[in-house]
Amino acid sequence: MSQLPRGPQGRLLTTYQFLTRPIELLSRCAATYGDVFNVPMYNGDVVMAGSPASVQDVMTAPPDALVPYATKSIAPLVGEHSLVMLSGERHRRERKLLTPPFHGDRMRAYAAAMADVAARRFAEAARAPRAVAQDITQAISLDVILRAVFGVEEPSRMSAFARAIVAMTDALTPALTFLPVLQRELGGLGPYARFRRRVEHLDALCREQIERARAAPGDDILSLLVAARYDDGSSMSDQAIFDELRTLLFAGHETTALALAWALDHAHRHPTVLARLRDELDALGPEPDPERLAALPYLDAVCKEALRLHPIVTEAPRMAAQPFRLGEHTLPPGTGVAPCILLVHHRPELYPEPSRFRPERFLERKYSPFEYLPFGGGNRRCIGAAFAMFEMKIVLGVALSAWEFRLLDERPPRPVRRNLTLGPAGGVPLALRARGRAALRTAA
Ligand code: HEM
Repeated sequence: MSQLPRGPQGRLLTTYQFLTRPIELLSRCAATYGDVFNVPMYNGDVVMAGSPASVQDVMTAPPDALVPYATKSIAPLVGEHSLVMLSGERHRRERKLLTPPFHGDRMRAYAAAMADVAARRFAEAARAPRAVAQDITQAISLDVILRAVFGVEEPSRMSAFARAIVAMTDALTPALTFLPVLQRELGGLGPYARFRRRVEHLDALCREQIERARAAPGDDILSLLVAARYDDGSSMSDQAIFDELRTLLFAGHETTALALAWALDHAHRHPTVLARLRDELDALGPEPDPERLAALPYLDAVCKEALRLHPIVTEAPRMAAQPFRLGEHTLPPGTGVAPCILLVHHRPELYPEPSRFRPERFLERKYSPFEYLPFGGGNRRCIGAAFAMFEMKIVLGVALSAWEFRLLDERPPRPVRRNLTLGPAGGVPLALRARGRAALRTAA
Protein backbone atom coordinates (compact mmCIF):
# COMPACT_ATOMS: atom_id res chain seq x y z
CA MET A 1 0.00 0.00 0.00
CA SER A 2 1.26 3.51 -0.85
CA GLN A 3 2.17 5.53 2.20
CA LEU A 4 4.15 8.61 3.05
CA PRO A 5 6.56 8.69 5.99
CA ARG A 6 5.81 10.97 8.93
CA GLY A 7 6.71 14.64 8.85
CA PRO A 8 5.61 18.12 9.92
CA GLN A 9 2.14 19.48 9.08
CA GLY A 10 1.19 22.69 7.31
CA ARG A 11 2.31 23.23 3.70
CA LEU A 12 2.56 26.99 3.82
CA LEU A 13 4.58 27.03 7.03
CA THR A 14 7.06 24.37 5.87
CA THR A 15 7.43 26.09 2.46
CA TYR A 16 8.17 29.35 4.25
CA GLN A 17 10.68 27.63 6.54
CA PHE A 18 12.29 25.84 3.60
CA LEU A 19 12.78 29.19 1.84
CA THR A 20 14.07 31.10 4.83
CA ARG A 21 15.69 28.59 7.23
CA PRO A 22 16.20 25.31 5.34
CA ILE A 23 18.98 23.97 7.58
CA GLU A 24 16.97 24.46 10.76
CA LEU A 25 13.88 22.85 9.16
CA LEU A 26 15.74 19.79 7.85
CA SER A 27 17.75 19.25 11.05
CA ARG A 28 14.65 19.57 13.24
CA CYS A 29 12.70 17.10 11.07
CA ALA A 30 15.57 14.57 11.10
CA ALA A 31 15.78 14.82 14.92
CA THR A 32 12.02 14.32 15.26
CA TYR A 33 11.15 11.83 12.51
CA GLY A 34 14.39 10.00 11.68
CA ASP A 35 16.29 9.37 8.45
CA VAL A 36 13.34 9.44 6.06
CA PHE A 37 10.54 12.00 6.47
CA ASN A 38 7.96 13.87 4.45
CA VAL A 39 8.05 17.64 4.01
CA PRO A 40 4.68 18.90 2.75
CA MET A 41 5.51 21.78 0.39
CA TYR A 42 3.41 24.22 -1.58
CA ASN A 43 4.20 22.22 -4.77
CA GLY A 44 3.41 18.82 -3.18
CA ASP A 45 5.00 16.32 -0.82
CA VAL A 46 8.78 15.87 -0.81
CA VAL A 47 10.19 12.85 0.99
CA MET A 48 13.73 13.48 2.23
CA ALA A 49 16.26 10.62 2.17
CA GLY A 50 18.77 11.41 4.91
CA SER A 51 20.73 8.13 5.28
CA PRO A 52 23.22 6.48 2.90
CA ALA A 53 20.86 3.48 2.50
CA SER A 54 17.90 5.64 1.47
CA VAL A 55 20.12 7.78 -0.80
CA GLN A 56 21.26 4.55 -2.47
CA ASP A 57 17.62 3.52 -3.08
CA VAL A 58 17.09 6.78 -4.99
CA MET A 59 20.40 7.00 -6.84
CA THR A 60 20.30 3.41 -8.10
CA ALA A 61 16.62 3.41 -9.13
CA PRO A 62 15.93 2.49 -12.79
CA PRO A 63 16.02 5.70 -14.91
CA ASP A 64 12.29 5.55 -15.75
CA ALA A 65 11.20 5.21 -12.08
CA LEU A 66 12.03 8.84 -11.29
CA VAL A 67 11.59 11.97 -13.41
CA PRO A 68 12.58 15.62 -12.83
CA TYR A 69 10.88 17.30 -9.89
CA ALA A 70 8.44 20.24 -10.08
CA THR A 71 8.84 20.73 -13.81
CA LYS A 72 5.83 23.07 -13.90
CA SER A 73 7.51 25.62 -11.66
CA ILE A 74 11.02 25.15 -13.06
CA ALA A 75 10.18 25.18 -16.82
CA PRO A 76 9.49 28.93 -17.02
CA LEU A 77 12.82 29.55 -15.29
CA VAL A 78 15.24 27.24 -17.11
CA GLY A 79 13.31 26.56 -20.33
CA GLU A 80 11.57 23.36 -21.45
CA HIS A 81 14.60 22.07 -23.36
CA SER A 82 17.02 22.34 -20.45
CA LEU A 83 18.85 19.16 -19.39
CA VAL A 84 17.33 19.45 -15.91
CA MET A 85 13.83 19.17 -17.46
CA LEU A 86 14.51 16.12 -19.62
CA SER A 87 14.05 12.48 -18.73
CA GLY A 88 14.49 9.04 -20.32
CA GLU A 89 16.31 8.66 -23.63
CA ARG A 90 16.36 12.39 -24.47
CA HIS A 91 18.05 13.13 -21.09
CA ARG A 92 20.63 10.39 -21.63
CA ARG A 93 21.45 11.61 -25.15
CA GLU A 94 21.77 15.25 -24.16
CA ARG A 95 24.04 14.37 -21.21
CA LYS A 96 26.24 12.36 -23.56
CA LEU A 97 26.62 15.47 -25.69
CA LEU A 98 27.25 17.93 -22.86
CA THR A 99 29.44 15.95 -20.44
CA PRO A 100 32.76 15.35 -22.34
CA PRO A 101 33.81 19.05 -22.53
CA PHE A 102 33.82 19.15 -18.72
CA HIS A 103 36.12 16.14 -18.30
CA GLY A 104 39.56 14.72 -19.08
CA ASP A 105 41.87 16.51 -21.54
CA ARG A 106 39.16 18.96 -22.63
CA MET A 107 38.82 20.08 -18.99
CA ARG A 108 42.59 20.14 -18.34
CA ALA A 109 43.03 22.45 -21.33
CA TYR A 110 41.40 25.18 -19.20
CA ALA A 111 43.97 24.91 -16.38
CA ALA A 112 46.20 27.80 -17.51
CA ALA A 113 43.21 30.04 -18.29
CA MET A 114 41.71 29.32 -14.83
CA ALA A 115 45.01 30.25 -13.15
CA ASP A 116 45.43 33.45 -15.25
CA VAL A 117 41.90 34.60 -14.56
CA ALA A 118 42.30 33.96 -10.82
CA ALA A 119 45.66 35.80 -10.65
CA ARG A 120 44.18 38.82 -12.46
CA ARG A 121 40.95 38.98 -10.44
CA PHE A 122 42.70 38.73 -7.05
CA ALA A 123 45.23 41.40 -8.10
CA GLU A 124 42.35 43.72 -9.10
CA ALA A 125 40.58 43.10 -5.79
CA ALA A 126 43.75 43.89 -3.82
CA ARG A 127 43.67 47.51 -5.04
CA ALA A 128 40.79 48.24 -2.63
CA PRO A 129 41.21 48.15 1.17
CA ARG A 130 38.21 45.84 1.44
CA ALA A 131 36.91 43.15 -0.90
CA VAL A 132 34.19 40.48 -0.81
CA ALA A 133 35.38 36.94 -1.54
CA GLN A 134 32.15 35.99 -3.30
CA ASP A 135 32.44 38.95 -5.72
CA ILE A 136 35.98 37.92 -6.67
CA THR A 137 35.16 34.23 -7.04
CA GLN A 138 31.99 34.99 -8.99
CA ALA A 139 33.97 37.14 -11.46
CA ILE A 140 36.47 34.27 -11.84
CA SER A 141 33.91 31.51 -12.33
CA LEU A 142 31.98 33.64 -14.84
CA ASP A 143 35.11 34.29 -16.91
CA VAL A 144 35.92 30.57 -16.83
CA ILE A 145 32.46 29.31 -17.78
CA LEU A 146 32.13 31.91 -20.56
CA ARG A 147 35.36 30.70 -22.12
CA ALA A 148 34.31 27.06 -21.83
CA VAL A 149 30.77 27.53 -23.11
CA PHE A 150 31.24 30.22 -25.76
CA GLY A 151 34.95 30.45 -26.33
CA VAL A 152 34.49 34.19 -25.61
CA GLU A 153 37.74 36.00 -24.82
CA GLU A 154 37.15 39.63 -25.92
CA PRO A 155 36.90 41.72 -22.73
CA SER A 156 33.93 43.84 -23.92
CA ARG A 157 31.87 40.78 -24.90
CA MET A 158 32.90 38.97 -21.72
CA SER A 159 31.64 41.81 -19.57
CA ALA A 160 28.38 42.16 -21.57
CA PHE A 161 27.69 38.46 -20.95
CA ALA A 162 28.80 38.64 -17.33
CA ARG A 163 26.45 41.57 -16.62
CA ALA A 164 23.54 39.78 -18.33
CA ILE A 165 24.10 36.54 -16.39
CA VAL A 166 24.48 38.24 -13.01
CA ALA A 167 21.36 40.34 -13.68
CA MET A 168 19.37 37.20 -14.56
CA THR A 169 20.64 35.24 -11.54
CA ASP A 170 19.93 38.16 -9.17
CA ALA A 171 16.36 38.46 -10.49
CA LEU A 172 15.70 34.81 -9.65
CA THR A 173 14.61 35.08 -6.01
CA PRO A 174 13.90 32.00 -3.82
CA ALA A 175 10.18 32.86 -3.77
CA LEU A 176 10.04 33.00 -7.57
CA THR A 177 11.83 29.66 -7.80
CA PHE A 178 9.61 27.78 -5.36
CA LEU A 179 6.21 29.49 -5.71
CA PRO A 180 4.88 29.11 -9.29
CA VAL A 181 1.93 31.32 -8.33
CA LEU A 182 4.37 34.26 -8.56
CA GLN A 183 5.38 33.36 -12.13
CA ARG A 184 2.98 35.84 -13.75
CA GLU A 185 3.86 38.77 -15.99
CA LEU A 186 1.43 41.21 -14.23
CA GLY A 187 1.48 43.73 -17.09
CA GLY A 188 5.28 43.75 -17.16
CA LEU A 189 5.63 45.00 -13.58
CA GLY A 190 6.27 42.15 -11.13
CA PRO A 191 9.48 40.24 -10.29
CA TYR A 192 8.68 37.52 -12.86
CA ALA A 193 8.37 40.09 -15.67
CA ARG A 194 11.73 41.53 -14.62
CA PHE A 195 13.29 38.05 -14.66
CA ARG A 196 11.83 37.35 -18.14
CA ARG A 197 13.24 40.62 -19.52
CA ARG A 198 16.67 39.63 -18.27
CA VAL A 199 16.38 36.15 -19.80
CA GLU A 200 15.43 37.73 -23.14
CA HIS A 201 18.42 40.05 -22.97
CA LEU A 202 20.76 37.10 -22.33
CA ASP A 203 19.09 35.13 -25.16
CA ALA A 204 19.70 38.05 -27.52
CA LEU A 205 23.42 37.94 -26.70
CA CYS A 206 23.39 34.15 -27.13
CA ARG A 207 21.68 34.54 -30.54
CA GLU A 208 24.59 36.65 -31.81
CA GLN A 209 27.03 34.11 -30.44
CA ILE A 210 25.17 31.25 -32.18
CA GLU A 211 25.54 33.08 -35.50
CA ARG A 212 29.26 33.47 -34.86
CA ALA A 213 29.62 29.79 -33.98
CA ARG A 214 27.79 28.80 -37.19
CA ALA A 215 30.06 31.03 -39.26
CA ALA A 216 33.33 30.06 -37.55
CA PRO A 217 33.05 27.03 -35.23
CA GLY A 218 35.59 26.73 -32.40
CA ASP A 219 36.16 23.96 -29.82
CA ASP A 220 33.73 25.51 -27.30
CA ILE A 221 30.47 23.95 -26.14
CA LEU A 222 28.26 26.24 -28.19
CA SER A 223 30.02 25.18 -31.40
CA LEU A 224 29.42 21.58 -30.36
CA LEU A 225 25.70 22.19 -29.82
CA VAL A 226 25.38 23.99 -33.14
CA ALA A 227 27.04 21.07 -34.96
CA ALA A 228 25.17 18.33 -33.02
CA ARG A 229 22.77 16.08 -34.94
CA TYR A 230 20.04 13.85 -33.54
CA ASP A 231 19.64 10.30 -34.86
CA ASP A 232 17.16 11.51 -37.52
CA GLY A 233 19.78 13.99 -38.81
CA SER A 234 17.98 17.08 -37.46
CA SER A 235 19.87 19.75 -35.52
CA MET A 236 18.98 21.40 -32.21
CA SER A 237 16.54 24.31 -32.49
CA ASP A 238 17.79 27.74 -31.44
CA GLN A 239 15.38 27.63 -28.48
CA ALA A 240 16.84 24.31 -27.31
CA ILE A 241 20.37 25.77 -27.60
CA PHE A 242 19.34 28.88 -25.59
CA ASP A 243 17.88 26.71 -22.83
CA GLU A 244 21.01 24.53 -22.57
CA LEU A 245 23.33 27.54 -22.62
CA ARG A 246 21.38 29.28 -19.85
CA THR A 247 21.38 26.06 -17.81
CA LEU A 248 25.15 25.67 -18.08
CA LEU A 249 25.85 29.33 -17.32
CA PHE A 250 23.47 29.35 -14.38
CA ALA A 251 24.44 25.95 -12.92
CA GLY A 252 28.12 26.44 -13.61
CA HIS A 253 29.13 29.79 -12.19
CA GLU A 254 27.35 30.65 -8.96
CA THR A 255 27.76 27.19 -7.43
CA THR A 256 31.54 27.17 -7.88
CA ALA A 257 31.84 30.79 -6.73
CA LEU A 258 29.95 30.12 -3.48
CA ALA A 259 31.98 26.98 -2.78
CA LEU A 260 35.21 28.96 -3.20
CA ALA A 261 33.99 31.74 -0.89
CA TRP A 262 33.23 29.12 1.80
CA ALA A 263 36.62 27.45 1.31
CA LEU A 264 38.47 30.77 1.75
CA ASP A 265 36.48 31.52 4.88
CA HIS A 266 37.07 28.10 6.46
CA ALA A 267 40.78 28.05 5.66
CA HIS A 268 41.24 31.39 7.43
CA ARG A 269 39.31 30.43 10.55
CA HIS A 270 41.53 27.39 11.13
CA PRO A 271 45.20 28.36 11.49
CA THR A 272 46.46 24.74 11.49
CA VAL A 273 44.60 24.01 8.25
CA LEU A 274 45.98 27.17 6.65
CA ALA A 275 49.54 26.36 7.77
CA ARG A 276 49.37 22.81 6.37
CA LEU A 277 47.86 24.10 3.13
CA ARG A 278 50.56 26.74 2.72
CA ASP A 279 53.28 24.14 3.37
CA GLU A 280 51.86 21.99 0.59
CA LEU A 281 51.47 24.95 -1.79
CA ASP A 282 54.82 26.59 -1.06
CA ALA A 283 56.62 23.39 -2.01
CA LEU A 284 55.49 24.12 -5.60
CA GLY A 285 57.16 27.58 -5.62
CA PRO A 286 55.71 31.10 -5.96
CA GLU A 287 53.96 30.55 -9.32
CA PRO A 288 52.78 26.95 -9.15
CA ASP A 289 51.95 24.98 -12.27
CA PRO A 290 48.09 24.82 -12.32
CA GLU A 291 47.92 21.12 -13.13
CA ARG A 292 50.23 20.30 -10.22
CA LEU A 293 47.98 22.37 -7.95
CA ALA A 294 45.01 20.27 -8.98
CA ALA A 295 46.90 17.12 -7.90
CA LEU A 296 47.69 18.28 -4.32
CA PRO A 297 46.04 15.95 -1.77
CA TYR A 298 45.54 18.40 1.13
CA LEU A 299 44.18 21.13 -1.16
CA ASP A 300 41.77 18.51 -2.53
CA ALA A 301 40.72 17.58 1.03
CA VAL A 302 40.13 21.27 1.93
CA CYS A 303 37.82 21.72 -1.07
CA LYS A 304 35.96 18.49 -0.29
CA GLU A 305 35.52 19.44 3.36
CA ALA A 306 34.17 22.90 2.40
CA LEU A 307 31.58 21.20 0.17
CA ARG A 308 30.73 18.71 2.92
CA LEU A 309 30.21 21.19 5.72
CA HIS A 310 28.30 23.70 3.61
CA PRO A 311 26.86 21.95 0.57
CA ILE A 312 25.89 24.57 -2.02
CA VAL A 313 22.84 22.55 -3.01
CA THR A 314 21.21 20.95 0.03
CA GLU A 315 19.12 18.28 -1.70
CA ALA A 316 18.82 16.62 -5.14
CA PRO A 317 15.09 16.14 -5.78
CA ARG A 318 13.34 13.86 -8.28
CA MET A 319 9.69 12.80 -8.65
CA ALA A 320 8.23 9.29 -8.51
CA ALA A 321 6.87 8.39 -11.96
CA GLN A 322 5.32 5.19 -10.56
CA PRO A 323 4.88 3.77 -7.04
CA PHE A 324 8.39 4.06 -5.59
CA ARG A 325 9.81 1.86 -2.87
CA LEU A 326 11.93 3.76 -0.33
CA GLY A 327 12.86 1.55 2.65
CA GLU A 328 9.60 0.48 4.30
CA HIS A 329 7.53 3.06 2.37
CA THR A 330 5.94 2.91 -1.06
CA LEU A 331 5.57 6.46 -2.28
CA PRO A 332 2.66 7.30 -4.59
CA PRO A 333 3.43 8.53 -8.13
CA GLY A 334 3.87 12.32 -8.15
CA THR A 335 5.64 12.40 -4.78
CA GLY A 336 8.94 14.29 -4.64
CA VAL A 337 11.87 12.25 -3.33
CA ALA A 338 15.13 14.00 -2.46
CA PRO A 339 18.49 12.63 -1.33
CA CYS A 340 19.25 15.13 1.43
CA ILE A 341 22.89 16.09 0.90
CA LEU A 342 22.95 18.31 3.98
CA LEU A 343 21.74 15.63 6.42
CA VAL A 344 23.99 12.88 5.07
CA HIS A 345 27.02 15.19 5.27
CA HIS A 346 26.33 15.83 8.95
CA ARG A 347 25.90 12.25 10.17
CA PRO A 348 28.25 11.79 13.13
CA GLU A 349 28.94 8.09 12.48
CA LEU A 350 30.32 9.07 9.05
CA TYR A 351 31.80 12.44 9.98
CA PRO A 352 32.76 12.56 13.70
CA GLU A 353 32.28 16.10 15.10
CA PRO A 354 30.29 16.93 11.97
CA SER A 355 30.19 20.70 12.58
CA ARG A 356 33.99 20.92 12.69
CA PHE A 357 36.01 21.86 9.60
CA ARG A 358 38.54 19.03 9.44
CA PRO A 359 39.88 18.27 5.93
CA GLU A 360 41.99 15.40 7.31
CA ARG A 361 38.90 13.19 7.37
CA PHE A 362 39.14 12.93 3.57
CA LEU A 363 42.74 11.71 3.82
CA GLU A 364 41.87 9.14 6.48
CA ARG A 365 38.98 7.38 4.76
CA LYS A 366 37.17 7.00 1.48
CA TYR A 367 33.46 7.80 1.31
CA SER A 368 30.97 6.03 -0.94
CA PRO A 369 28.84 8.06 -3.40
CA PHE A 370 25.91 7.61 -1.00
CA GLU A 371 27.86 9.04 1.95
CA TYR A 372 29.44 12.06 0.22
CA LEU A 373 27.38 13.68 -2.51
CA PRO A 374 27.89 17.45 -2.95
CA PHE A 375 27.22 16.95 -6.68
CA GLY A 376 24.19 14.64 -6.29
CA GLY A 377 24.44 11.24 -7.96
CA GLY A 378 23.07 8.49 -10.17
CA ASN A 379 22.01 9.32 -13.72
CA ARG A 380 21.53 13.01 -12.89
CA ARG A 381 24.87 13.60 -11.13
CA CYS A 382 26.22 17.08 -11.82
CA ILE A 383 27.97 17.09 -15.21
CA GLY A 384 30.29 19.87 -14.00
CA ALA A 385 31.55 18.06 -10.86
CA ALA A 386 35.09 17.31 -12.10
CA PHE A 387 35.35 20.76 -13.71
CA ALA A 388 34.20 22.52 -10.53
CA MET A 389 36.66 20.60 -8.30
CA PHE A 390 39.49 21.30 -10.78
CA GLU A 391 38.62 25.00 -10.84
CA MET A 392 38.29 25.22 -7.05
CA LYS A 393 41.75 23.74 -6.48
CA ILE A 394 43.45 25.93 -9.08
CA VAL A 395 41.78 29.15 -7.91
CA LEU A 396 42.36 28.47 -4.21
CA GLY A 397 45.93 27.36 -4.90
CA VAL A 398 46.74 30.49 -6.93
CA ALA A 399 45.09 32.74 -4.32
CA LEU A 400 46.87 31.29 -1.29
CA SER A 401 50.24 31.09 -3.05
CA ALA A 402 50.24 34.80 -3.85
CA TRP A 403 48.11 36.51 -1.20
CA GLU A 404 47.61 36.82 2.56
CA PHE A 405 43.96 37.23 3.49
CA ARG A 406 42.44 38.78 6.60
CA LEU A 407 38.76 38.09 7.33
CA LEU A 408 36.93 41.29 8.26
CA ASP A 409 34.00 39.65 10.08
CA GLU A 410 34.89 38.03 13.35
CA ARG A 411 31.84 35.80 13.36
CA PRO A 412 31.57 32.92 10.86
CA PRO A 413 28.96 33.69 8.18
CA ARG A 414 25.49 32.10 8.31
CA PRO A 415 24.41 30.05 5.29
CA VAL A 416 21.64 31.93 3.43
CA ARG A 417 19.53 30.90 0.46
CA ARG A 418 20.33 32.56 -2.88
CA ASN A 419 17.76 30.68 -4.98
CA LEU A 420 18.41 26.97 -5.41
CA THR A 421 21.76 27.43 -3.65
CA LEU A 422 22.97 28.34 -0.15
CA GLY A 423 25.91 30.68 0.30
CA PRO A 424 27.71 32.56 3.10
CA ALA A 425 25.74 35.63 4.29
CA GLY A 426 27.66 38.78 3.38
CA GLY A 427 29.83 36.90 0.86
CA VAL A 428 32.92 36.83 3.18
CA PRO A 429 34.43 40.34 3.40
CA LEU A 430 38.23 40.33 3.52
CA ALA A 431 41.41 42.35 2.99
CA LEU A 432 44.28 41.11 0.77
CA ARG A 433 48.01 41.70 0.96
CA ALA A 434 50.68 40.31 -1.37
CA ARG A 435 52.81 37.60 0.17
CA GLY A 436 56.50 38.56 0.27
CA ARG A 437 58.85 36.11 -1.34
CA ALA A 438 60.71 36.10 1.97
CA ALA A 439 57.61 34.71 3.63
CA LEU A 440 57.63 31.72 1.33
CA ARG A 441 58.99 28.60 2.86
CA THR A 442 59.95 27.13 -0.49
CA ALA A 443 61.65 23.78 -0.34
CA ALA A 444 65.24 24.79 -0.94
C1 HEM B 1 30.78 23.50 -6.70
C2 HEM B 1 30.09 23.57 -7.80
C3 HEM B 1 28.85 22.76 -8.12
C4 HEM B 1 27.97 22.12 -7.27
C5 HEM B 1 28.03 22.04 -5.73
C6 HEM B 1 26.97 21.48 -8.10
C7 HEM B 1 25.93 20.70 -7.60
C8 HEM B 1 24.99 20.06 -8.41
C9 HEM B 1 23.94 19.20 -7.90
C10 HEM B 1 23.72 18.82 -6.44
C11 HEM B 1 23.22 18.77 -8.96
C12 HEM B 1 21.98 17.84 -8.93
C13 HEM B 1 22.45 16.42 -9.14
C14 HEM B 1 21.39 15.37 -8.90
O1 HEM B 1 20.19 15.68 -9.07
O2 HEM B 1 21.74 14.25 -8.52
C15 HEM B 1 23.79 19.37 -10.15
C16 HEM B 1 23.32 19.17 -11.44
C17 HEM B 1 23.84 19.81 -12.55
N1 HEM B 1 24.97 20.60 -12.60
FE1 HEM B 1 26.16 21.13 -11.04
N2 HEM B 1 27.23 21.78 -9.42
C18 HEM B 1 28.37 22.54 -9.47
C19 HEM B 1 29.01 23.01 -10.61
C20 HEM B 1 28.55 22.84 -11.90
C21 HEM B 1 29.24 23.27 -13.09
C22 HEM B 1 30.62 23.95 -13.13
C23 HEM B 1 28.44 22.97 -14.14
C24 HEM B 1 28.79 23.31 -15.58
C25 HEM B 1 28.61 22.80 -16.51
C26 HEM B 1 27.24 22.30 -13.63
C27 HEM B 1 26.18 21.83 -14.38
C28 HEM B 1 25.15 21.03 -13.90
C29 HEM B 1 24.09 20.48 -14.74
C30 HEM B 1 23.89 20.72 -16.23
C31 HEM B 1 23.27 19.70 -13.90
C32 HEM B 1 22.02 18.90 -14.29
C33 HEM B 1 22.37 17.44 -14.56
C34 HEM B 1 21.17 16.59 -14.98
O3 HEM B 1 20.03 16.93 -14.65
O4 HEM B 1 21.39 15.56 -15.64
N3 HEM B 1 27.35 22.24 -12.25
N4 HEM B 1 24.87 20.14 -9.79
